[in-house]
Amino acid sequence: MSTASLYQPWRLNSTLTLANRVVMAPLTRSQAGPGLMPTEAMAAYYARRADAGLIISEATLIRADGQGYPDTPGLYTAEQVAGWQEVTRRVHQAGGTIVAQLWHTGRASHEYFHGQTPVAPSAIGLEGTLPRMRGLAYPVPRALETAEIAQLVADYAQAAANAREAGFDGVEIHGANGYLIDQFLHHASNRREDAYGGSPENMARFALEVVDAVAARIGAERVGIRLSPGAYFNMEPDTRDRAVFDHLLAELELRGLAYVHGGIFDDSLRFDYLDGTISEYLRRHYRGTLIASGSYTAESAAAAIDAGRFELVAIGRPFIANPDYVSRVREGLPLVDYVDSMLASLV
Ligand SMILES: Cc1cc2nc3c(=O)[nH]c(=O)nc-3n(C[C@H](O)[C@H](O)[C@H](O)COP(=O)(O)O)c2cc1C
Repeated sequence: MSTASLYQPWRLNSTLTLANRVVMAPLTRSQAGPGLMPTEAMAAYYARRADAGLIISEATLIRADGQGYPDTPGLYTAEQVAGWQEVTRRVHQAGGTIVAQLWHTGRASHEYFHGQTPVAPSAIGLEGTLPRMRGLAYPVPRALETAEIAQLVADYAQAAANAREAGFDGVEIHGANGYLIDQFLHHASNRREDAYGGSPENMARFALEVVDAVAARIGAERVGIRLSPGAYFNMEPDTRDRAVFDHLLAELELRGLAYVHGGIFDDSLRFDYLDGTISEYLRRHYRGTLIASGSYTAESAAAAIDAGRFELVAIGRPFIANPDYVSRVREGLPLVDYVDSMLASLV
């Protein structure tokens, strides 16, 4: 089957055009250095993947209390910005385009990392233990005071400005996978009774305030957002969530963003309350550029792009195993299979 459509350029807007349709998905690697700074090894790792049409960085912290995994990089200190400057310089030198994924884990954080009780929309903890932390149990988070939310929004905007200073071509707001923004969007984690909970408009408010503040700082054409309308990770599904995402997507459509990106590990998974898969649901509710992700092969992605189901595909695990993923699939060369042990080192 032909994968030719993957190698066509894609114009996101008048500011950003991508060389091809293959996006390197955001992939947390937990290999940042002291001070949560990007390292030389990270610069080399990203530069090796510069033939992706777009690289989305691993999730990167907007502030210290957002941390939920060891050694994840930040974008809130001058040293971190300087470290990222080297990463973006190397990616650009190799012809690539790269955006920073802006992250706060909310209730998936732990005081182990920053000495504070994690903040979340509501004081509802996750079951189980933190990943990569040898059995450390998730705490019960503290519900954000209404008055604290404006500072959080400002911190996203500042991290976006820092990303531009660090040479990133834009940012992806991480609104997916059960982290802070997603926690506002689902009933299982948002029981607020103020302006940020209780109705679709209120539950979508935090996400939209972050989008608007970030867009005001760096321009909407440099801003994408990743969303998980179907709860699948760190989140219990609730059929009422659908109305929240219906409202959110209608609002996002008015904002001229670079793209919307679906967050899911397997995009063949169907959600009853979305009447289909994540990408099918997003396509019905959002007319701008759509990135799909989740267990795609070059062949299945090209067929879906040909059928108009989305414009760009984000490839995750295969990109860890194959730094030269794009040239391999283009030339029809075999791919190395991903295995979890590859996470131990940056190759
Ligand atoms: C090791 C690993 C780390 C990940 N880190 C992130 C992340 O930082 N941000 C994010 O939005 N998704 C993250 N994901 C999800 C991926 O972006 C992607 O959606 C998922 O792997 C499905 O795509 P794939 O089947 O091509 O791997 C991660 C996935 C893996 C396997």
